[in-house]
Amino acid sequence: MPDHAPHPADPSLLTAFRDILGAPGVLAEPGDVAPHLSDWRGLYRGEAMAVLRPASTEEVSACVKLCAAQGIAIIPQGGNTSMVGGATPEARPRQVVLSLARMNRVREVDTADMTMTVEAGLVLARAQQVAAEHGVLFPLSLGAEGTAMIGGLLSTNAGGNTTVRYGNARELMLGLEVVLPDGSVINGLRRLRKDNTGYALRHLFVGAEGTLGIITAAVLRLFPAARETATALCTLPSEDAALALFRRFRAADEGAVRAFEYMSGIGMGMVTATIEGATLPLAAPADHYVLVDLSASREGAGLRGLMESVLEAAMEAGEVEDAALAESEAQRAAIWRLREEHPEAQKRAGASVKNDVSVPVSAVPELIRRASAACRELIPGSRPVPFGHMGDGNIHMNLAQPEGMSAADFLARSHDIMDEVNAVVRDLGGSFSAEHGIGRLKTDMMESWRGGAELDAMRRIKAALDPQGIMNPGKLLPDA
Ligand code: FAD
Ligand code: MLT
Ligand code: ZN
Repeated sequence: MPDHAPHPADPSLLTAFRDILGAPGVLAEPGDVAPHLSDWRGLYRGEAMAVLRPASTEEVSACVKLCAAQGIAIIPQGGNTSMVGGATPEARPRQVVLSLARMNRVREVDTADMTMTVEAGLVLARAQQVAAEHGVLFPLSLGAEGTAMIGGLLSTNAGGNTTVRYGNARELMLGLEVVLPDGSVINGLRRLRKDNTGYALRHLFVGAEGTLGIITAAVLRLFPAARETATALCTLPSEDAALALFRRFRAADEGAVRAFEYMSGIGMGMVTATIEGATLPLAAPADHYVLVDLSASREGAGLRGLMESVLEAAMEAGEVEDAALAESEAQRAAIWRLREEHPEAQKRAGASVKNDVSVPVSAVPELIRRASAACRELIPGSRPVPFGHMGDGNIHMNLAQPEGMSAADFLARSHDIMDEVNAVVRDLGGSFSAEHGIGRLKTDMMESWRGGAELDAMRRIKAALDPQGIMNPGKLLPDA
């Protein structure tokens, strides 16, 4: 049997799940199950006897109790946009995918407390929209926001484009409701800004990638809506100039910087070549680009003036060569599209190896230069595509296959490439996973980066909460 075939289910188990969820809550037909068995990048395929689609916390709890009694593994799944195979089942029997997609209600929006209580299956773009309808802002923003769900975003502690101003998903969460691996429910949907009452259990589940329990709902923080924005796309002579520009904006008005994203000439070339309608609003292409986005909750904040004065000074200092300022919402969206289409453009340009890494912000130029050189030396003709969240020190040090090399030959070198990049990252005091998490892709790196007391403590926490090891096996923690 191919490893992606749905595993034939025990009919009595399917009946038991249907008794809990009703017929629409259990998918067992191969065609219905298949989309849940592979990942966005096409790196992994697994199997599952069924996809469970609970519609309430009580239903999640009942399913988990049944799974725990029967020793059935559970793979929680949100939008299935994981970059590290975290939501894809392994090729093993007796497991189910538990999709949160039907738990997509907004339970409450409170603009006095500036909180929003939502279920785990709410898609991020919808959460942003609901906040906007109430005249406020939910600031998390990333390329997969039309598909990724709140439970998945919290479980990976997602970052994205606005971390530089608002923090990661963790910083945007005040309370959580979680179903533990024995089916019991932690009701921690508190909307308190201060709550020092013992271990902050809610934070255990953020970034746990579904290995400790299932997030069913969350209290999210809201912010004042942006009343003024200014957005520019710049070309620069070097990576150092990009860092200098970031420092200029930070010094001028740190609170105004909503996003500061770096892109390379190769990456931008892939976007304009492969994405329909993506055109550069600048006179000529360059080797280095930065997208600066400023926002303020106050009208008349003078962001346009701030943008122009900082860019003018940077041009005089030779740090910026050319810049296009958005004159309308449509132009702003077009500039953002050039950034957000980077993952899709890389997909269309052939195979690529992703290195989601972080270093201290001051070391970003050195990271880009050294890691690019190391990759080119390792695989001649390969194309480094560094881009991403420069303001957080988080660069996607991705490598695209050389033209003319087969995708399979290139991907066979994935681990050599990741090792090469990680050696530079380690030398610069960085992390081998900045925002995408560990999933299946990086479990074998945990020992060398987090081994000893740290990994040991993680294993003990896992064993305490999930002694049977039924929650998302094979993810995050390496086999002991
Ligand atoms: P899934 O992929 O379904 O699951 C992710 C992990 O969380 C899995 O381990 C899964 O088991 C677990 N999980 C899911 N739901 C729950 C739950 N309710 N309870 C417990 N565990 C759960 N990520 C960033 O951080 N920043 C970016 O800028 C960014 N850009 C992206 C752009 C594109 C085009 C794509 C495809 C992905 C991008 N990602 C980015 C990665 C991805 O979108 C994030 O990791 C996101 O948080 C995953 O959300 P999801 O709902 O799709 O989760
Ligand atoms: C992004 O920021 O677009 C993604 O996190 C990066 C990637 O595709 O590697
Ligand atoms: Zn990213």
